[in-house]
Amino acid sequence: MQTSEEIFLRKIGYSQVKIIKYLPSFTRQVSLCSTKKKRKEYVVVKYYKYNIRRILTDYMICGLSLAILRPIKAYASTTEKIRGAIMARDIFRKVGIKTPQLIYPIDIRQLSHVGHFIVEKYEDAIPLTQFVLTAKNKELTDIGYIIGVKTASLHKLGYAFGDNRASNTLIKIEEDKIHFIKVDHEYFCWDPTKVFQILDIILITQYPGIPELFVYGFFKGYNDSNGFKELGVNPKYFERASYLFGDLLVLPLHFIKRFE
Ligand SMILES: Nc1ncnc2c1ncn2[C@@H]1O[C@H](COP(=O)(O)OP(=O)(O)O)[C@@H](O)[C@H]1O
Ligand SMILES: [Mg+2]
Repeated sequence: MQTSEEIFLRKIGYSQVKIIKYLPSFTRQVSLCSTKKKRKEYVVVKYYKYNIRRILTDYMICGLSLAILRPIKAYASTTEKIRGAIMARDIFRKVGIKTPQLIYPIDIRQLSHVGHFIVEKYEDAIPLTQFVLTAKNKELTDIGYIIGVKTASLHKLGYAFGDNRASNTLIKIEEDKIHFIKVDHEYFCWDPTKVFQILDIILITQYPGIPELFVYGFFKGYNDSNGFKELGVNPKYFERASYLFGDLLVLPLHFIKRFE
C-alpha cells in the first residue's frame, strides 16, 4: 500500500518514490525519501499528521500565545504554521542563517490547495545533539559562538526561533569549516515581548546533553553581539537564571528527548 508521503510526492511530479526511513519527530511524521524528477534526489517530507502529542503541544502553545503573546499567529492552523515556516526562511536569509532548500510549497499561494506537507532538500548533516558527543573542545566553543552570534542577530530584528531545541540545529562540516543549519520553523514567531527569545536561549543551552563548552561559546557570542543589551538583562544573572530554568524544564525536556 502506498503511504500518504508517496502519493503526495507523485502528485507534485516525482517518480520512483521510496521512503528510506522515518526521522525522529515528536509531533509530525518526518521521512527521508529517495525520489526522481530529472535526476535522483533525496528529500525530507514533513507530514502534519495529527497524533496525540501534536494535539497536546498545540493546545499548550496556543494557550500560551493567546494568553500573553497575542502577536503570535503561527498556531492558528496547519496552513498558517506552514506559512510561518516559509516566512522564517526569508528572515533567516537576512541574518545569514542557513536552512534546507524548500521544494514545496515555494509559493505561499499554493497553500490553499494542499496544506499538510512540507518538502525540503535533505541535508547531509548531523543534529547538534549527536555532534556534541564526538566534537573536540574547540569545535564546541566555536559552534556555540557562531550560533550565539546568529541568534542575537535574529533577536535584534524582533523574532524568535520558538522551538530552539538542539535537535532542530544541524551541523555540517565543509572544507574544515563548521556551519549550522536550522530546521523545524514551525513555532518561529515575531516576539516583541521577548518571552520566546528568552526561551530560545534556555532551550539551546539547557537541553539535556549540551556540554558546558558549547554553552560558554554561545553566551560569549550572544554577548559579543550585544544580545543581552538588547534583551535588557545582565548576562551574569541571566546565565545563572537560565540554569535554574533548565532545572525546572529538565523533566519535560528529557521526556521529549526520548523521541529524538
Ligand atoms: N532537511 C533536512 N535534512 C536532514 N535532516 C532533517 C531535515 N529536516 C529535518 N531533519 C531531521 O529530522 C528531525 C525531525 O524534523 P523536524 O523538522 O525537527 O520535525 P519536528 O517538528 O517533529 O521536530 C530533525 O531533528 C532533523 O534531525
Ligand atoms: Mg524538531
